[in-house]
Amino acid sequence: MNSVIVGIGGALPKKCVTNFELPADLDTSDEWISTRTGIKQRHIAENETTASLASEAAKKALEQAKISASEVDLIIVGTVTGDYTFPSVATIVQKNLGSKGVAFDVSAACSGFVYALSIADSFIKTGKAKCALVIGAETFSRIVDWKDRSSCVLFGDGAGAIVLRAEKNTDCGVKYCKISSDGAYADYLITSGGVSTTQTSGFVKMQGREVFKFAVEKFYDSVNELLRENNMTLDDVDLIVPHQANSRIIKKLTEMLGIDENKVLVTIDKHANTSAASIPLALNEVRDTIFSKKNIVLLSMGAGFTWGAALIKLR
Ligand code: ACO
Repeated sequence: MNSVIVGIGGALPKKCVTNFELPADLDTSDEWISTRTGIKQRHIAENETTASLASEAAKKALEQAKISASEVDLIIVGTVTGDYTFPSVATIVQKNLGSKGVAFDVSAACSGFVYALSIADSFIKTGKAKCALVIGAETFSRIVDWKDRSSCVLFGDGAGAIVLRAEKNTDCGVKYCKISSDGAYADYLITSGGVSTTQTSGFVKMQGREVFKFAVEKFYDSVNELLRENNMTLDDVDLIVPHQANSRIIKKLTEMLGIDENKVLVTIDKHANTSAASIPLALNEVRDTIFSKKNIVLLSMGAGFTWGAALIKLR
């Protein structure tokens, strides 16, 4: 049994804030943000929530797949910014869509989508699910300190979703998905509080340079491991979709791999860093053309540290 991608969808809050429109008292500039990160704008939730964005992205993915919500028997949402401490975002999506089966969230920060993909793929390959919605959805604007210019300018809100369907007798689908973590780095990218410690969600705190170095290293190692384990070379890869944390991380990776920059999808200029939503939102940007490509590589890295890599073969 293979887990084949048959639909992609995305959702962004209506409000878009360019670097020029950030609060004046932040003491930042378009020049600083653009040159250090590649970010030009971000969408910020007002009336939207993580679950409403996730539901909208899911509906669009189902529309593209021409699959009804009643066929979905598994929903996994990668998120660390749920609407409530409980229930999960996934169960709210399940309610909004009117589907049945099993629904749950995965907490792996920016790696949430690749973690969710790995689990959904296992459900499908072991016959426990036939049709899965894999979603990355976040409202990081709610957990950044809007007085801390070193972190708040980096993030944005949004959601992306894919539909995975169980199919036999096909060479397409999730060909490889490896997720990893190293808790020794737990303090490097962390919130300043949480339910069980401060009874708040806390604000994002990070050691930016260490995160930068780790991301470049893990992206590079993960691609090479993926290629080795699948007997492929970079020539066989049509598109790399890395987590959109910083355009300089992506540029460095592209240089180290020695590949054409057209082979690497960059959407951080439009969305900023949307954590678990960044990879599926990037996929959504090219949803009308991506199915003409064959081998897609996804790369993630996030708090924990967590990281992951996937190889997806499209039709
Ligand atoms: N506007 C203007 N100046 C700023 C801003 C800002 N928004 N933020 C920081 N500065 C200033 C600092 O105060 C500092 O000034 P000083 O030299 O007078 O003290 C100067 O800029 C340099 O600050 P650094 O933090 O050292 O800047 P650095 O060059 O490391 O860049 C950045 C910071 C962009 C975050 C970088 O570390 C980075 O790219 N990290 C990668 C991690 C990342 O992008 N994380 C996002 C989430 S993690 C993830 O998704 C996996």
